[in-house]
Amino acid sequence: MSKKRILTGDRPTGKLHLGHYVGSLHNRVKLQRDYETFVIIADVQALTTHFEHPESLKNDIFQITLDYLGAGIDPNISTIFIQSLVPALHELSMYLGLIVPVNVLRHNPTVKAEAAQHGFKDMNYGFLGYPVSQTSDICAFKAHLVPVGEDQLPHIELSRRIVRRFNSLYKPVLVEPEALIGQVPRLTGLDGKAKMSKSLDNAIFLADSDKEIQQKVRNAVTDPARIRATDPGHPDICCVYEYHKVFSEDELPLIREECEGGKIGCVACKNKLSSALNNLLKPIRSKRTQLETRPDIIWDILHDGTAKAAAAAQQTVEEVREAMCINYFQQ
Ligand code: TRP
Repeated sequence: MSKKRILTGDRPTGKLHLGHYVGSLHNRVKLQRDYETFVIIADVQALTTHFEHPESLKNDIFQITLDYLGAGIDPNISTIFIQSLVPALHELSMYLGLIVPVNVLRHNPTVKAEAAQHGFKDMNYGFLGYPVSQTSDICAFKAHLVPVGEDQLPHIELSRRIVRRFNSLYKPVLVEPEALIGQVPRLTGLDGKAKMSKSLDNAIFLADSDKEIQQKVRNAVTDPARIRATDPGHPDICCVYEYHKVFSEDELPLIREECEGGKIGCVACKNKLSSALNNLLKPIRSKRTQLETRPDIIWDILHDGTAKAAAAAQQTVEEVREAMCINYFQQ
């Protein structure tokens, strides 16, 4: 039997950070051998908010591909492709849009939060409808599993709803997808306030140098009640400890004990974290840097991946057309 499929991906709006890594990228790397994996670089979706700045897309696509490959997505077994270049996705969006009530889109909490973040008062049609386009991305590949960050759950829920409606109205050709959320669904930024995000300037990027990591960790917020290194600390309200939970799992009991006992100061504790992060990111960074000098290889991977994805998506669209009785020239 052939493998089940994964469809997953990101908007190319800048370099990926640790939040992406623990939220979904790690899962994708881990599962790429068990599932036939397609990774979408959603440039059209990026344009739903960045339509005034299309000129940065090409470099953003290049950078995100470096992040994927650096993190361990293997282009020999996974297919990385560019959304805008797969016509079947846009065709399918049109068909699926026929069966989605506008009110359902209006109530999508992630869309609402993004609209507020970008200061959209009146939402553009493409922006309001991007979860439908995302549903086409998933459905065109008949993906069973969608490894994504927690903020994507409303979209996958919508996809499931659309698939059920389509399959019962026409023919059961589409697959109801399931979301897979990472080990840490919502990594807090180093400011300890909000989710890690590029726009909030609280992110550690996969491409960050050892120095940048150290500097960012040094500025992280710890227990405010702790003034001297010998004061007993409170790891449960400390942002650095939150990170140790994820990135220094083995040392966790020791770190807690030393912090609570005033045996380790925040500076030393932060140094431990920087070196754990650096150990994780070093191989990613070095592969990334190495590939960065070979743009020809990157664009070849994207070119071939896109051709392969386009063929797979086209096949589904043909089944969809048949189910919807619009395959006029076939008998
Ligand atoms: N919405 C995702 C993001 O904001 C990107 C995306 C587009 C996606 N299409 C998808 C993710 C399909 C998973 C499946 O990063």
